[in-house]
Amino acid sequence: MMRGTLELELSAEEQSMLAGDFGPGVQKAMEIVSALGRIYGAQRLVPVSSVQVAGVSYRNLGEAGLDFLLKWASQSARVRVPTTLNPAGIDLQAWRELGFSESFAHRQVAVVEAYGQLGVRTTCTCTPYLIGNAPRLGEHVAWAESSAVSYANSVLGARTNREGGPSALAAAITGRTAAYGLHLDENRRATLRVTVRCPVRTISDFGALGYLVGKEAHSRVPYFVGLEEACSDIRLKALGAAMAASGAVGLYHVEGVTPEAGRVDILAPHHETFVVDDLRPAYAALNSDHSPPLAGGGEGEGHEDRIDLVWFGCPHAGLEEVTRVVHLLARRQVKTALWITMAREVRERAAAKGLVAAVEASGGQVVADMCVVVAPMQELDLHTLATPSAKGATYVPPHAGLQVRYGTVEQCVEAAVTGIWPP
Ligand code: F3S
Repeated sequence: MMRGTLELELSAEEQSMLAGDFGPGVQKAMEIVSALGRIYGAQRLVPVSSVQVAGVSYRNLGEAGLDFLLKWASQSARVRVPTTLNPAGIDLQAWRELGFSESFAHRQVAVVEAYGQLGVRTTCTCTPYLIGNAPRLGEHVAWAESSAVSYANSVLGARTNREGGPSALAAAITGRTAAYGLHLDENRRATLRVTVRCPVRTISDFGALGYLVGKEAHSRVPYFVGLEEACSDIRLKALGAAMAASGAVGLYHVEGVTPEAGRVDILAPHHETFVVDDLRPAYAALNSDHSPPLAGGGEGEGHEDRIDLVWFGCPHAGLEEVTRVVHLLARRQVKTALWITMAREVRERAAAKGLVAAVEASGGQVVADMCVVVAPMQELDLHTLATPSAKGATYVPPHAGLQVRYGTVEQCVEAAVTGIWPP
């Protein structure tokens, strides 16, 4: 090993990348990776087995972001490890049908193509682990997208910090990330013991619990006790996404469930405790923290919450979740827009099982590639949204400008069928 500046040590190959021997694109990527290493006090870089890149929506990137990507691609930068991509701002095939503008679609397609030029697999999903990018226990990866980071660390036991868009791409181009934060054993120990004393049964209950614990944890690592019986991968996905949104939690452990929870030293000796015995404050907050009262349904009695769009698939849905919605719809017609967002590859699997046709027969849409939070929702005449996702309920009002109702999957399906949020 050769010593770099400060405490960071770089291998001969890493030094060579930094010196420009692999071209200016790789040099720029190594400059980013090594600069982050120095900022965070890392002593070495570690090879990564996969990368998840975020920063895809043209709404957030704009022309400056697109130019940045194209320039990097023109410098012959290419990813060295399997790299998947976060959701875009539209369904890349059905954007017109959903009501998005041609001008936005044109620029969004250009962004996705630029990532393709860099060698990124343009998967456009926040659940890459459902389509083959599922790192194993102990593997180092560099993932952006907070819910995916939480899932990779907690449910799969892989190791990643929450990367930003450019840092994830730089890790993909160099095949390295700096060894700090959640890559290190000592930072994976829990410092907040969470005892759950109330029933936590549904996906939205798990989201509500995650919302409360995230607020308390503030980037710390929680260790849950009292949850094991109700856990499933879908519920853990909802729990982690909610904690990531409300408290930037990138890793949690659940006693008897998650892969690292059994480590003898997993609970730090100096930890705090937090008891959750009531989820109602979370439901109240997710329905009102970010949203003024919804539009009234008419004069006088029967003041009702009208819903324009019901959104499932935050994080992106798997087949089990679509199946559940189809079952609850029971061939009834929806009165609102109903979107289930997912990876295109999962949509193809759902289509093969007749699930897409079943949703469409009820008037809903199975939408690929996109996320409501980063979509140009102002282009559509939609004002109110219902979702069973705590992350969605947290982010939609400030980022997509819609008012939100948060509740169970059953409530959301009823809202879709009646057009009204159930009392
Ligand atoms: Fe995924 Fe968007 Fe939700 S990126 S986790 S669908 S906010």
